[in-house]
Amino acid sequence: GKNIVVTGAASGIGQRTAELAQSQGANVFSVDRNTPDNQVGHFIAADLGSAEGVEALVNALPNGIDALANVAGLSGTPGKVPTIAVNFLGLRALSLGLAPKMNQYGSVINVASIAGFGWRGNLERTRKAIDVEGFPDPAQFCADHNIQDETSYPDSKELLLMWTFRAAHDPVFKDRGIRVNAVSPGPVETPILLQFRDVLGDDRVNSDINRVGRAGTANDIAPSILFLASDGARWVNGTNIACDGGLEASVMSEAM
Ligand code: NAI
Repeated sequence: GKNIVVTGAASGIGQRTAELAQSQGANVFSVDRNTPDNQVGHFIAADLGSAEGVEALVNALPNGIDALANVAGLSGTPGKVPTIAVNFLGLRALSLGLAPKMNQYGSVINVASIAGFGWRGNLERTRKAIDVEGFPDPAQFCADHNIQDETSYPDSKELLLMWTFRAAHDPVFKDRGIRVNAVSPGPVETPILLQFRDVLGDDRVNSDINRVGRAGTANDIAPSILFLASDGARWVNGTNIACDGGLEASVMSEAM
């Protein structure tokens, strides 16, 4: 089996991804800041929103990792600093830090969101932001790139999508055949959805859900993540799979 690291494994999509990977015979390293009741594979506690936490995790993981599923994320309600730190800066630092411990032809899968699909409209700002070095101070990063609390969630996912496309051609990954892709869910029934309801309002979330008949479940998302980790996806690189039941297509076709 492959060695796969799954972050955010204590809840929702990450938990389901870790379980499914294990049931398919993978050797799973599950990571979260919260220790889950049912630990899948080898559990490692880590705070992915700090440079120290990411570094400790990279050191704790063995060589020979085949896939990294970056699922951990925050909704934006905790504020811009932790949201940017976990959803973008920490995820990027973990991916870059783990790359030397990954096998040739490995795979990095970044869970973004349909909330990040506006990235083309913010190219100028995002371009500057994704090129920063290392794991900068998240508060300073938010100040430097004009990131506000209210929009920090979509901003973090726009940064993540743009970085995913960029990273697919970064020699750190590309020289060893490591692919970098994204999976972007629409509304999914997990604890984070309650926070999105608080921020966006029930009307907006319900209307999105009604467009496609129901909210997704973690079980709808995990297989796409594991597909990108598999050898069958060997020619899929630097792309994004919307996993939203057709929501984005519905919104787009209305605007066409
Ligand atoms: P969730 O809230 O159930 O799980 C997120 C997990 O990330 C939690 O276990 C949490 O402890 C972990 N986490 C947060 N901060 C961390 C940190 N500093 N260090 C380590 N772990 C940390 O949410 P869900 O739905 O499973 O979300 C997974 C991903 O899917 C997130 O990136 C989210 O933005 C994305 N997503 C979710 C959608 C939804 O409606 N549920 C929609 C679009 C994207």
